[in-house]
Amino acid sequence: MNTSLPQERLIAIISFISLSVIRMLPSITSLNINLNNITSHLHSLEIINNYLNLKIIYPKKNLPNKKIRINSLKFKNVFFNYGVDKKNFTMKDINVELSKSDILGVLGKSGSGKTTFADLTLGLLKPSKGNIYINNNQIVDGSFENFDISYVPQSINLVDDNLKENITLGHDFDNNLMNKVISFSDLEEFHKIKQDKSIGEDGSKISGGQKQRIGIARAFYSKPSLLILDEPTSELDYESENKIMKNLQKQNIDIIILIAHRLNTLNICNKLAIFKEGKILDFGLKDQVINNNKELEKYFNSKT
Ligand SMILES: Nc1ncnc2c1ncn2[C@@H]1O[C@H](COP(=O)(O)OP(=O)(O)OP(=O)(O)O)[C@@H](O)[C@H]1O
Ligand SMILES: [Mg+2]
Repeated sequence: MNTSLPQERLIAIISFISLSVIRMLPSITSLNINLNNITSHLHSLEIINNYLNLKIIYPKKNLPNKKIRINSLKFKNVFFNYGVDKKNFTMKDINVELSKSDILGVLGKSGSGKTTFADLTLGLLKPSKGNIYINNNQIVDGSFENFDISYVPQSINLVDDNLKENITLGHDFDNNLMNKVISFSDLEEFHKIKQDKSIGEDGSKISGGQKQRIGIARAFYSKPSLLILDEPTSELDYESENKIMKNLQKQNIDIIILIAHRLNTLNICNKLAIFKEGKILDFGLKDQVINNNKELEKYFNSKT
């Protein structure tokens, strides 16, 4: 009779332990999975940690020694579509001829094809029909690399580093050239105050106008033969825009293509192209195009 008591207690204890283990089993399994997860990701964590501790080193551009200057650029019956609709082309029958010293102003409503035209000129997009010629030679895959072409896009990409690194971006540092482009791009004040400070991830610590001026300085720094600027001064005040536009004319750039919504930005141009729904409505010498499209005249020389 005395021996039955410890036995009952033993059964109760064993039952309690078994039940507890059964209840804890899912948590133990989950713990095990998570531990395995952590162990398997340790290597990635180490790589990220090393990366965060690294000073970013930009790859030096290993490009062939100076390239061919651009004397002419020609679009002949160029059509393009983004591959969505094979029948309806985004760009239709584009014909443009530019030669050395030309500054082309590109006008048109939003969605009319201005950036697509820039991307075709840069070789980022390939014509679906028709051809592009530089120096009278038809452009084929890869031949854009023979020329110094710079681009100031609508939205500038910046790295989380200081002004100097954002301007040189892989090119060798040249102090004289750096001072020149800082002055040309109206960045002296910014340079005085913040030259060694980081501008933040994608320029999060600076203004839209400052970002645009860094984009322009970067383009000047690469001393291009063909420069394409897509809405480069849309966030700048009139004075700063005017200064930069005047400086743009003084550069040793063979051909400039300037896309702008504000027509006073285009005062420096000698040619104009008006885009509408993927077509060129009018192209030619500025005075002639303004003459053909009287409604444009009031926008020039005005401080809009
Ligand atoms: N990646 C793309 N895929 C498909 N269609 C596109 C793509 N990019 C632009 N488009 C279309 O191509 C047409 C021309 O666009 P584009 O960006 O060249 O216009 P835009 O004149 O530069 O306009 P904005 O003044 O607003 O910058 C538009 O109808 C646009 O929707
Ligand atoms: Mg655009």
